[in-house]
Amino acid sequence: MSVLEETLVLIKPDGVVRNLTGDILKRIEAKGYKLVDIKLVDADRELLSQHYAEHEGKAFYEPLIEFMESGPIVAIRLAGNRVIEGFRALAGTTDPTTAAPGTIRGDLGRDWGLAVQQNLVHGSDSAESADRELTLWFD
Ligand code: RTP
Ligand code: MG
Repeated sequence: MSVLEETLVLIKPDGVVRNLTGDILKRIEAKGYKLVDIKLVDADRELLSQHYAEHEGKAFYEPLIEFMESGPIVAIRLAGNRVIEGFRALAGTTDPTTAAPGTIRGDLGRDWGLAVQQNLVHGSDSAESADRELTLWFD
């Protein structure tokens, strides 16, 4: 059994600045998920610290916040049956160097030798995260 779900997808500043927004949206649409809402956001520290609260105190936390503040982000409310796990599969694993070819991170990402991995997209990792993150970015 599958249930209709929504997830938060972000195209991170590296994806936007590298002009990969269209490529990423094409993969999401080709998979069959539905765009419910989409907007370009200059995220401030307040929003980002809430979004990434689980990573506070980690070595990559400050570089991560600075990276996410560095340019516009495309925020997407995405819907479909099992879209939370489905988008995570489309995105690939966190480290773009070893993310599987065929995934967004595996095909379009690489290690740039920076203090934080720039990996093009974010996707909510559970139904609870999706609820919390969609409220943060869209309500
Ligand atoms: P996200 O939350 O952005 O969808 O990514 P994720 O679940 O795959 O990875 P997570 O563990 O939640 O980490 C959040 C983001 O922090 C950056 N990161 N860099 N060692 C590193 O350099 C490192 N570890 C994590 C990545 O941008 C990751 O997506
Ligand atoms: Mg995460």
